[in-house]
Amino acid sequence: MRILIVGNGGREHALLWKLRRDAPGASFYVTQPNGGMAPLCETVEIAPGDVEALAGWAASSRIDLTVVGPEGPLAAGIVDRFRSKGLPIFGPTRAAARIESSKAYAKELLRNANVPTAAHRTFSSRAGAVDWVRAQGAPIVVKASGLAGGKGAVVCMTVAEAVAAIDAMLGGLEFGEAGRELVIEEYMEGEEISVFAVSDGRDFVVLQPSQDHKRVGEGDSGPNTGGMGAYAPVSIADTDLLAEARTEVIAPTLSALAADGAPFKGLLYAGLMNTAEGLKVVEFNCRFGDPETQVVLPLMESSLLDLLATVAEDGSLAGHTARTRRGAAVTTVVASGGYPGSYEKGKPITIPTDLESDDVLVFHAGTARRGRELVTSGGRVLAVTALAPTLPAAADGSRSAAARIRFDGAFFRGDIGWRERARLEREHDDDE
Ligand code: AMP
Ligand code: GLY
Repeated sequence: MRILIVGNGGREHALLWKLRRDAPGASFYVTQPNGGMAPLCETVEIAPGDVEALAGWAASSRIDLTVVGPEGPLAAGIVDRFRSKGLPIFGPTRAAARIESSKAYAKELLRNANVPTAAHRTFSSRAGAVDWVRAQGAPIVVKASGLAGGKGAVVCMTVAEAVAAIDAMLGGLEFGEAGRELVIEEYMEGEEISVFAVSDGRDFVVLQPSQDHKRVGEGDSGPNTGGMGAYAPVSIADTDLLAEARTEVIAPTLSALAADGAPFKGLLYAGLMNTAEGLKVVEFNCRFGDPETQVVLPLMESSLLDLLATVAEDGSLAGHTARTRRGAAVTTVVASGGYPGSYEKGKPITIPTDLESDDVLVFHAGTARRGRELVTSGGRVLAVTALAPTLPAAADGSRSAAARIRFDGAFFRGDIGWRERARLEREHDDDE
């Protein structure tokens, strides 16, 4: 079997890691692989966003399955293009990918389908947006409607901050075209959970829920990033909560997309807020989450390939399930100094040779090979995942492994999993 992975970050490295385990005999091809993926695959010298060139290459290379990591190529219609050539590909069409690529579309769909989410308005002019923010008061959340690399939401604690965010977005300074349309929504209080559902457009299989850490600083301080770490399992995502996620959020969203003529075949990522009034949607993504994938897949015992291939070949997921192994996983992202603002690239990286083991996995994100040297090439450089029987042990393992990785300006959050740890400690105190 010949499998193409489109994308070259930490999420794609984790997909490659898992799919290689599921299909040890397969050949893997990756678009411009990072420094950690390159030794594990054949290099395809085509950018992940070059849809036309990739479709031509996949056809002539007789690729059996293509798996798309990032949202960019999906929003650009890579799936439509591959399907028109009869090439099996896992991911939503351009129309279905709007669940992520247009927050305005997603919010309208949710409202019409009665899926719980923050009350919102959509604006493309300053006056209307500012008036609404003044009327609502703070806290309030201002979001660029288009794709913004996970950094397009600004949680504003004052009206002045919200007005500044509106000006920055509509002014085109920060997010370009993505910020020409704004979604402004009610602030929701609660804890967030990431739920991944593999969907064939109708039926779906939910993978193990996880929790991201979006803020750059410890204790969830500072600006939003693409994600600084993640863990699973999340104890608040128990059977009841998952049932609620399935019936109140995922099933009606998939039905609404199908009814809209855009059945979603791919990975639907629901970012959910566990509020006092129940689960509410924070956002949807049309792809696996990064860095959540780096904890969800190492804990997945059953075949991911089986699910992805079934969907890519227009099969049904009815009756399919996903099995998870016992224990916990924590991943810590090691980032470049300055991230999520500007940062320098090309810093030599040293990873101790004894760092990786059955229980410690180093997923590369922004790394490249420069001759024999491994160097930084992005903001999020590596995701260091540790597996252990308990969450505190996995968190300690991930943090101490991350601390042994060296490059100029490297930093990471040492507190990944802190909410779960606090919960476990409270339970422990209650037991005494
Ligand atoms: P998004 O880009 O929509 O995923 O938002 C990024 C982050 O901003 C989320 O993960 C939340 O932590 C926060 N956020 C987004 N929307 C809201 C909201 N309505 N209320 C509170 N926090 C939010
Ligand atoms: N970790 C958040 C995302 O993948 O969008």
